[in-house]
Amino acid sequence: MISAIVYNSCTGSCKKYAELLSAAIHAPAMPLKSAYVRDGGKIIYVSWIFAGKVCGLEKAAAKFNIAAVVQVGMSAVSDKSEAVCREKNSIPRNAAVFCRQGGFNINKLPLPFKLIMKLKCKEIAARLESKGQLNEQEQATLTMASTGVGEPPRWDIDDIVAWAAK
Ligand SMILES: Cc1cc2nc3c(=O)[nH]c(=O)nc-3n(C[C@H](O)[C@H](O)[C@H](O)COP(=O)(O)O)c2cc1C
Repeated sequence: MISAIVYNSCTGSCKKYAELLSAAIHAPAMPLKSAYVRDGGKIIYVSWIFAGKVCGLEKAAAKFNIAAVVQVGMSAVSDKSEAVCREKNSIPRNAAVFCRQGGFNINKLPLPFKLIMKLKCKEIAARLESKGQLNEQEQATLTMASTGVGEPPRWDIDDIVAWAAK
């Protein structure tokens, strides 16, 4: 049983995934900063990625019993995403990993992140424009990178809800 969904969100995507999960699995969603879980209860940790690192994961792991990590990024999710997430973040085998595409909004970012992403978005847009045929999520990333704002095609949590019910 999952006691809580603990999330860390800069511009709202992880909060949205956490709230969708909370409604579906009937466990409270709490921001990492103020989260409190009794008696070592299991949590799902939802956070955004910064250069491939799941933000706040070490802090969350020190405080909570993490049964699953949901990493949220602006990139398209591929069949390699889970393995890359596990490796970059040293996630133990006994924790599940789910990779989701989130939204992007450069206008909501704190200034240092805005400056980093202004440059990064140019690189991302150029890479995707030269790729040719794009899938739906890659197309969404291209919109995010070229306009500074965008959402994923879907906010899908079905597989996470099915895992939590096991
Ligand atoms: C400084 C910075 C670094 C980022 N690095 C990555 C990254 O390595 N991979 C990725 O897919 N998305 C990256 N993103 C995009 C965010 O992870 C993405 O927009 C996510 O949906 C944000 O979640 P939030 O709205 O809950 O803050 C980065 C964003 C910022 C601001």
